[in-house]
Amino acid sequence: MALRHAAGGAAETGSYVTQKVGPYRVVIVRGPDGSVRAFHNTCRHRGSVICKAATGQVAKLVCPYHQWTYELDGRLLWARDMGSDFDASAHGLKPVHCREVSGLVYICLADDAPDFDAFAKMAEPYLAIHDLREAKVAHQSTIIENGNWKLVWENNRECYHCAGNHPSLCRTYPEDPTITGVSADGTFPPKVEAHFSRLESVGAVSRFQMSDDGQYRLARMPLLDGAESYTMNGKIAVQKRLGRIPFLDAGTLLKFHYPTTWNHFLSDHSITFRVTPISPTETEVQTTWLVHKDAVEGVDYDLENLTTVWEHTNDEDRTVVEDNQQGINSPAYEPGPYSASHEDGVNQFVDWYCATMTKRLSPLRMAAE
Ligand code: FES
Ligand SMILES: [Fe+2]
Repeated sequence: MALRHAAGGAAETGSYVTQKVGPYRVVIVRGPDGSVRAFHNTCRHRGSVICKAATGQVAKLVCPYHQWTYELDGRLLWARDMGSDFDASAHGLKPVHCREVSGLVYICLADDAPDFDAFAKMAEPYLAIHDLREAKVAHQSTIIENGNWKLVWENNRECYHCAGNHPSLCRTYPEDPTITGVSADGTFPPKVEAHFSRLESVGAVSRFQMSDDGQYRLARMPLLDGAESYTMNGKIAVQKRLGRIPFLDAGTLLKFHYPTTWNHFLSDHSITFRVTPISPTETEVQTTWLVHKDAVEGVDYDLENLTTVWEHTNDEDRTVVEDNQQGINSPAYEPGPYSASHEDGVNQFVDWYCATMTKRLSPLRMAAE
């Protein structure tokens, strides 16, 4: 997500965005010094939500209930009539793990965050040319898919369903399984290799890389011949482009990171997707369209033109995921085989899930024995 740098002026202001992550409320703050921090958006007095707007510019974080006032770094600055033995230093906002990589902000609600450095090291070279620190949010949509989050991911990891369900996306996005999936043997057809070479020759890191455990993957893949961006006519959607790739037909940098996000970074704009399980049969998918901060709606881009393809695609994916959930609810459901040529990515996701759960659950099982 993009947080605006604080405007100059007398007051030391920062900016914030609020996020709902399932039942959690989180506020992500960029301070006057540019540093980004995240906190639980829950007051340390009696628990009110503190920042209620989606975004804002503030000098302090003031709880609307009894006006406890927090510094932008989370310290409690002021609380009225709490007595002489009140320890303000023990009542700062609870921090949320927060890391930024090339303008993308990642948060983690766990007590102990997993290692982030290896991912940041891999991702930064791919993302740098997209200048995401120069981005603003042009549009955000949040939908609920009435299906388990793993069905959402399985659907995302293959394009076997694309020709039958995604007429808008298929105008520009290839159904080719070597592009949407995960190459089983690490090789790509000559056309994709040529695409990697063309983009790398201008500094756009492109070749496929995946973490050893399969949790995240980056690769810059071609769109259909002549296509530039995810629009109905295939042309770029934003004239004031985000990033420095010198070609319009640069394809899309695909990044997925289980279990929470997949992303597309194009020559003119970028799109991030966040997946949040809400219940066993409800999954929130939040889509964010990022454009250059100086791009003007109505001048440099038309919002409908920018968003139509993925608004359609998200809605179509919601339908197939919900149909999938309803079908597998039947006691008659029995898993069928995957297409070896189209569903390697699904296989890879399922393998990652099983390995991850086995690793996480083993200590619990051993403790119970
Ligand atoms: S709940 Fe925030 S000040 Fe009372
Ligand atoms: Fe789809």
